[in-house]
This record gives sequence, C-alpha cells and structure tokens, in this order.
Amino acid sequence: MARLDPHSYNDDTQPQTDALDWQARVDFGAKRLEAEATLHFRAPAPKGPLDLDTRDLELGGVFDLTGGPLPFVLHPPDPVLGARLEIALPAGARGVRIRYRTAPQASALQWLDPGQTAGGKEPFLFSQCQAIHARSVIPLQDTPRLRIRYQAQLKVPARLKAVMAAAWLKREVAGDEATEHFQMPQPIPPYLFAFAVGELVSRELGPRSRVYAEPSLVEAAAHEFAQVDQMIAAAEQLFGPYDWDRFDILTMPPSFPYGGMENPRLTFLTPTIITGDRSLVNVVAHELAHSWTGNLVSNANAEHFWLNEGFTVFAERRILEVLEGKEVAALHAALGRRSLDEAVARFSQQPELTRLRTTLAGIDPDEAYSQVPYEKGYLLLATLEEAVGREAFARFLRAYLGAFRFQSITTDDFLGLCERELPGALARVDAAAWIDGPGVPANAPVARSARLEQIDQLGGAIATPAQAAGWNVAQWQLYLDSVTRPVSLEAAAELDARFHLTASNNPEVLVDWLALAASAGYAPAVPRIEEVLGKVGRMKYLRPLYEALAKQPATRARARAAFERFKAGYHPIARQVVEGVLSRAGA
Ligand code: BES
Ligand code: ZN
Repeated sequence: MARLDPHSYNDDTQPQTDALDWQARVDFGAKRLEAEATLHFRAPAPKGPLDLDTRDLELGGVFDLTGGPLPFVLHPPDPVLGARLEIALPAGARGVRIRYRTAPQASALQWLDPGQTAGGKEPFLFSQCQAIHARSVIPLQDTPRLRIRYQAQLKVPARLKAVMAAAWLKREVAGDEATEHFQMPQPIPPYLFAFAVGELVSRELGPRSRVYAEPSLVEAAAHEFAQVDQMIAAAEQLFGPYDWDRFDILTMPPSFPYGGMENPRLTFLTPTIITGDRSLVNVVAHELAHSWTGNLVSNANAEHFWLNEGFTVFAERRILEVLEGKEVAALHAALGRRSLDEAVARFSQQPELTRLRTTLAGIDPDEAYSQVPYEKGYLLLATLEEAVGREAFARFLRAYLGAFRFQSITTDDFLGLCERELPGALARVDAAAWIDGPGVPANAPVARSARLEQIDQLGGAIATPAQAAGWNVAQWQLYLDSVTRPVSLEAAAELDARFHLTASNNPEVLVDWLALAASAGYAPAVPRIEEVLGKVGRMKYLRPLYEALAKQPATRARARAAFERFKAGYHPIARQVVEGVLSRAGA
C-alpha cells in the first residue's frame, strides 16, 4: 500500500473513483446539505477496504449500487486530514453510495445571511474546495492525483439560482423548490469541484462567456470583465485551444477569501476587482491561465503547488503583455518580486516553506500558503526562459501542456520533460537551488522598465503631483513601497493632502497606503481601515490591515475589537488567518 498524497487517506492499491453522481438539498435554515454521493470505480474492486476522505460529515449510511448496506468505520478525525471513512467492499463492487449531511461549519462552505449580500434580501452559499476542503462537502478520494467526471443535482429554494463549475443542463421547479441539473464532462481533480447558490442574474460577455452576479452588481461586473473574449483569444494564441468549452465568471460576495478561484468553466472572482476602470483584470487573466496551467496540467499534491501557481503567474503575465504591453507586465513582475521578498522574510523561521518543492506531511496547506510558489515559481520559469530564449521556452511550454494534459504531475515530471526538451538548461540555471533550496537564488532576473526607473529616481521622496501624473495602480503600489521608511507623521499627512489616498477606491492602492499610514501613526487611517475590515473578507487585504493595526501599541486593542466585531462575516479560512496575525502580534 502507498499513500502518495500526504493530504489524503487515498491508498493507490484501492479502487479509483472516476465518476461521481451527487445530489444535494440546500437547507439554508439548518446550514446543511442533505446529500447522497455515488462513486463509480474505474474497474471492479477486489475485496477489501476503500478509504475515503471526509471532514465533519454526518453519515446516514453506506450502500452498494443495488442499495444493500455495506459495513464501514468512520475513524476519529486528524486535525489536518479530517476523518478516514473505511468501507468494506465486496469483491467486484463497481461503486458505493453514501448518504450523509454536511456540518454547518463545513470548511469548504460559507453560508451567508441576507445581510452579508449586496441585495440584503436572500441568503447566499458558496464552496471553496482548494486545497483539501472538498472532503467537507463530499466523501471522496480528495487528492488531485485522481480526476473525476460528475453529474450533480442541487435542490434549492425556487427564488434562488444554483451555479456550478460544470455544464448546466436544466432546471425543474416543484412547489417552492427548484432542482438544477449539471454535468461535468471534463475530468477534474476534486479541488475544482465548486458551486454557489443565491439571488443571481447574468449578462452575456461573448460567445463563450457570461458573468453571474447579484442583480445590483451585474452591470458593473459586465463592464469590468467586458474584454474577457479578447483575453481568451490571446491565451489560445499563446497556449493552444481552450479545452473547457465555456469561461463564465461568478462575482462573489465580498467575504470571498481569495482574489479568484479557477473553478473550471466558472471562475469565481472577488468583487473587490470591480473598480470601474478594469485596472485589476490581471486577476481574470490569472484565473483564465489556470485553464491550461493547473486545470489541464495539475499538481499531483500540495507539495508541488508551485507547478499550478508559478506556471500560472508566468502565463498571466504573458497574457497581460499581449493585452497591455511589456511595461505593464514588467510592473507586475516588480510587484511580484516585492511580495516574494515579504513572504521569504515572513518565513525566516521556517525557511523550508520557501522551497518550491515542499514537504507537507502533517502541515495544513492553508498554513503553508504564501506568495512563494507563485513568484519564486514565476522567477524560475523566467530564469529558464532567459537562458534558452523566448522561442525555445515557448516551445517547451507547448510541449509541457501537450505531454501532461488532463494529468496530475510532480516536480520530477516537470524536471524530466524539461531535461528532454531543453537539454542542459536546468543545470545552467542551477534549478536544484530553485527547487529544493530556500529563498531566492541570486540569478533571478530583475524586471526593468522606464516606469520602474522613474520610481527609483524619486529615491523614496514625497512625489509631486506632476511626477505622479498618469500613474497606474501598479505604479502607485511600487511608489508607496519605495517611500523611505520609517515614514514620519508629517510625510504621511503630506502624501494624503496631495493625493487623497485615504479616499482611494482602488483596494490595492488603498490597502498599501493604509498600512503605510498606520505605521506612521496617521490617525485618519484608522477609521478607514476599520471600514475596509468590515466590508471585505479577502485575505490579501485583511492580513496587512490587521497587521498594521496590531503592530502599533496605540491601535492594538482596536485590531482585536474590529476582529471580534467582524469575524462572524469572515470565511472560516480568513478567520483562522486573522487569528494567527493577532496572536503573533500579542493583540
Ligand atoms: N487557486 C488560487 C486560489 C487558491 C490557492 C485557493 C490555494 C485556495 C488555495 C487562485 O488561482 C489564485 O492564485 N488567486 C490569487 C489571484 C492572483 C494571483 C492574481 C488570489 O486570490 O490572490
Ligand atoms: Zn492561481
């Protein structure tokens, strides 16, 4: 027997699920799914155990495909993995059926009260399964090594709509309930299983995409994402045909803990990128790029997460370069380098988490999450590209996507293919130091552009309105980062007087500014930070803002008080992250 994924009880000698039938009734009152899952095996099973991953599921029974009960044991839960469900299979079994309900605190689900939505009248439910939360919704082999196709039926209140990262088939209304039918024809790793339920309407964006949102947001969302067709076309030029039929977008409630999630056929996006000026659409490019890097070629487990995110950041910047030019792509690379250096500094006591290939037995992937796999992964690929040239690297990328499409791979699979396609290149860039060493190797390329040089030339001084004229969001972020530290109260006040940064409605600029202003003791920043903390649940913003308040003795108690006030509205994963920030700061 072998457990090939440290985050799953899956044993590679046991039957493999390749298809799933799932029926669930969404009970907003109880915050539970009443569900039945049927797992179909690739081949008839030998007699013996089947180990499934579960978390906080209440089991109603386990059956064979004819309805006969099967013996099972639900083992005590492990804090990271959840509980192993061990089923005794008769020889020749083609599948199993499990009746169960989810817990109100299911880690993949957030149940929102009407007050937490834009409309304020209807509840909302969404899933977020990456990395290992699918098991809190469905008992299954929750490892990306095993891909499944599925059919699903969701029974919801008839006033609401259900959407899934799958093809929609039909809706049947009976009384005050509606059943929505879906089918996922492309095989996916379980972390890409996704759905949402709420008061949703949609607008067409192009022949293969539409955007879903709450009614009051849908026009703004349609405007923000109007160029998605062009983006798909640019990505296909770069990476080959789009294999998922549709690229729809779901605009999430503000508590969505991520910027975006690449759920196939239905990307989930935070509403914080709807700024009115399309300045944050690189997030769309990123999630779209995952259609190739991540969804088509997936990491075999979380220890190789850099294959998903590093390749995707690389692909995202290629798309951005086509649409907005080299300068803009370079600014994003510079921002990425800054966030990588911050992550490496944050992990100074756990340098092993700054390797690309990690060892995560016993470690929760949510705890290990950082910008390292994203930006160090990006830099390794950029270094390789610099070594072999653009054309050769583009050919390699095509070969990689072709060789591993609809597969789940490890770092060694990447290294093997790279050596075959680009002989000697890995040694030339000292790839071993990148893959298995800590920190950022010295041969990392440095992004260059005229706009970066302009910021460097300011030397950390307070910019004049003439100097800052025409800056885009990335330039503002890079400039704020460059302002000489520590920032005095006078300097912060002068910056705000000149540029009205506290009033910015771009969350990227606003959050960087507020963190800087709080560190300078600039009082007007504090109520504005509290306002953001009460409105938004995206971890990228919660973390620096809570840190900024908690670091200053004068506002430490307010950090804790804000968290107590707002935490009921945060996603469980975000709550855990903020709790960590506050306790480390002694707040
Ligand atoms: N797949 C990730 C989000 C994720 C990672 C969820 C790990 C759960 C566990 C998604 O593609 C992502 O990287 N989102 C970024 C977008 C950014 C890099 C443009 C985010 O949320 O910030
Ligand atoms: Zn990503």
